[in-house]
Amino acid sequence: MGQIKIARSAVDLRAALGQLRSRGGKLALVPTMGALHPGHLALVEAARSRARACAVSIFVNPKQFGPGEDLASYPRNEAGDIAQCAERGADLVYVPRLKDFYPAGFASTVSVGGVAEGLCAAFRPQMFSGVATVLTKLFLQVMPNVAVFGEKDYQQLLVIRRLVRDLDFPIEIVGVATVREADGLACSSRNAYLTAPERTIAPELYRTLTSAASYLRQGALAKDVLPAAARALIDRGFTAVDYVELRDAETLAPLATVDRPARLLAAAWLGRARLIDNVPVEPSGSGIG
Ligand code: PAF
Repeated sequence: MGQIKIARSAVDLRAALGQLRSRGGKLALVPTMGALHPGHLALVEAARSRARACAVSIFVNPKQFGPGEDLASYPRNEAGDIAQCAERGADLVYVPRLKDFYPAGFASTVSVGGVAEGLCAAFRPQMFSGVATVLTKLFLQVMPNVAVFGEKDYQQLLVIRRLVRDLDFPIEIVGVATVREADGLACSSRNAYLTAPERTIAPELYRTLTSAASYLRQGALAKDVLPAAARALIDRGFTAVDYVELRDAETLAPLATVDRPARLLAAAWLGRARLIDNVPVEPSGSGIG
């Protein structure tokens, strides 16, 4: 394993990519906002298993945060992140500077429709255009063959697949199953916001989704199960529930019942942490989910 390269500018990035590409084989990119946790490390592993070279980008993208959101307090740990990438065998870490990435006068936005509407977008309207804009730039700068994302951000994963299809990026998008703590809580950089008492409540999000999914799988109606799941989250200590929704696993169209591969998705607040999670729900008898 060679020494990990660190690029902080587009010029450094081009030089480092030239060296990586000269080895031949595929290049995989793992875009992140840093504060890496085991979920990100699983993305790096997946990237390494699919490509000869692996680049990780670390950039807290201001365009996907709305006014009053947690941009200023978003956890940052650049030195620790680079060390973890090196330990996991990444070849390159790209840490662009904000003023270079979005120079003064930057005025372009990439906007995705369809799967980018509703769910999280109903509460964070700027989020997916921010994600699509940053990824369009990262994809054009890095030109990876493969890009890897977590299923924890399920709507984001579908938005990225749509973006890549619509704009003809020749990039294979790989989704990796959510990595969880031993008690079921999905790994997330925002878990760092949880106080000790909140941390004991947080796994209830996954437990509630899992239990609701089992009723849905047996044929229960979404109109009965979803409000009960939202109430259960509040009873168990969540401060507010943005949504608990049953959606088609591909199109994110709302479903009344599980009559095709579906996803049960939720976003809920615990103190200052907005937690999101989702589980697959397959129709009973399909042998999956
Ligand atoms: O999932 C994230 O960490 C971010 O939304 C991403 C995909 C790196 C874009 O900034």
